[in-house]
Amino acid sequence: MPFEFRSLMFVIVTLLVVFFILADISEIEEEFGNHGGASRLYLPSFQHRPNRSIAMEIDPTPRAILGGNDAPLLSSRTAPSSSVWSFNRTLSNLIRKNILKFLDAERDISILKGMLKPGDVIHYIFDRQSTTNVSDSLYRLLPEVSPMKNQHHRRCAIVGNSGILLNSSCGPEIDAHDFVIRCNLAPVEEFGGDVGRRTSLVTMNPSVVQRAFGDLASELWRGRFLRRLRGLEGSVLWIPAFMAKGGEERVEWAVRLILQHALHVRTAFPSLRLLHAVRGYWLTNNVLIKRPTTGLLMYTLATRFCEEIHLYGFWPFQHGPQGNRVKYHYYDTLKYEYTSHASPHTMPLEFSTLKELHSQGALQLHTGLCDTTA
Ligand SMILES: *[C@@H]1O[C@H](CO)[C@@H](O)[C@H](O)[C@H]1NC(C)=O
Ligand SMILES: *[C@@H]1O[C@H](CO)[C@@H](O)[C@H](O)[C@H]1NC(C)=O
Ligand SMILES: *[C@@H]1O[C@H](CO)[C@@H](O)[C@H](O)[C@H]1NC(C)=O
Ligand SMILES: *[C@@H]1O[C@H](CO)[C@@H](O)[C@H](O)[C@H]1NC(C)=O
Repeated sequence: MPFEFRSLMFVIVTLLVVFFILADISEIEEEFGNHGGASRLYLPSFQHRPNRSIAMEIDPTPRAILGGNDAPLLSSRTAPSSSVWSFNRTLSNLIRKNILKFLDAERDISILKGMLKPGDVIHYIFDRQSTTNVSDSLYRLLPEVSPMKNQHHRRCAIVGNSGILLNSSCGPEIDAHDFVIRCNLAPVEEFGGDVGRRTSLVTMNPSVVQRAFGDLASELWRGRFLRRLRGLEGSVLWIPAFMAKGGEERVEWAVRLILQHALHVRTAFPSLRLLHAVRGYWLTNNVLIKRPTTGLLMYTLATRFCEEIHLYGFWPFQHGPQGNRVKYHYYDTLKYEYTSHASPHTMPLEFSTLKELHSQGALQLHTGLCDTTA
């Protein structure tokens, strides 16, 4: 009897585990497939002290959030002040060293030509049972050497896409960095004064092709897409092509256009281990993210090749520090439920971690207006 009971319990527990794994996979699929957010970039994280009471404080469950208040996780509604911020090089070096135990951005930022050949079958990272073949076009766009090889920059800006950037006048300040990272091909031209114009590296989830460029279905959309890429002028275009099924056609169209028009962009396709490694780093540091946003991914990578990291456009709340309404993206009308349980990301948690890192001097989080007189 007890033996049968134990067997039954074992089966039940196994089923539960399988269920939770599948649930996790489907969430992940949602983002990187054609379904997900054009760009849910924003906020990264790090809880320096693995302390249970802190973990509870930042617990992003709806229970803690349902008050209708957008920013209940923050100790105050005031934006971090940059006037008192000072860079802590020791801490920044320590973080770089710890992240290197999980991944090496120089290597993991892209698969290289020598690692694959056309026709190779790849299992999607979050969707192991689905596969895709490496097309000739995609193979041709794999770099020979890492686009970040031997790159070291003193000051880097990572630009998230939050509407908090509107009317910030931060453009010139952002452009003054040595290396500027942007997310999901967010437009710059029309917003230059607030978001800057320079781009050193920009990400492109396959879903962006659908969401921001009409699936390249007409000459008009293809023209817009080409103009956007031409504006990159030789910077790195980072395409997470093998995360989840659903985006392969879009990647293929994009890749063919790049070849057909001999566009001067340096394409990169993240390694198959990158996402798990990034998540592993944060989980190990007790930041219990479900899945890193593009913004957090970029911060994690940037620690490898940037000394000082400055974040702009990270703000996962519907209202700004002064209570003003803040758009999800600075450039479109997309709405997003930051604290929804169904959301694949844990943005407020990532943000509170970033704030913590900001106050420790590991990075600088810019959420206010920029000084244009400087
Ligand atoms: C966690 O932090 C709180 C306050 O910072 C402290 O009172 C508590 O002792 C810490 N707990 C552990 C397990 O370190
Ligand atoms: C910088 O960070 C290190 C490591 O966390 C810490 O020991 C040191 O006190 C910090 N320095 C300052 C000036 O805050
Ligand atoms: C992918 O490659 C496999 C083996 O080379 C082949 O059998 C399959 O038909 C290919 N699938 C596609 C969609 O090209
Ligand atoms: C930005 O400033 C303009 C002009 O003052 C104003 O019309 C607009 O509402 C502001 N936008 C935001 C998001 O604050």
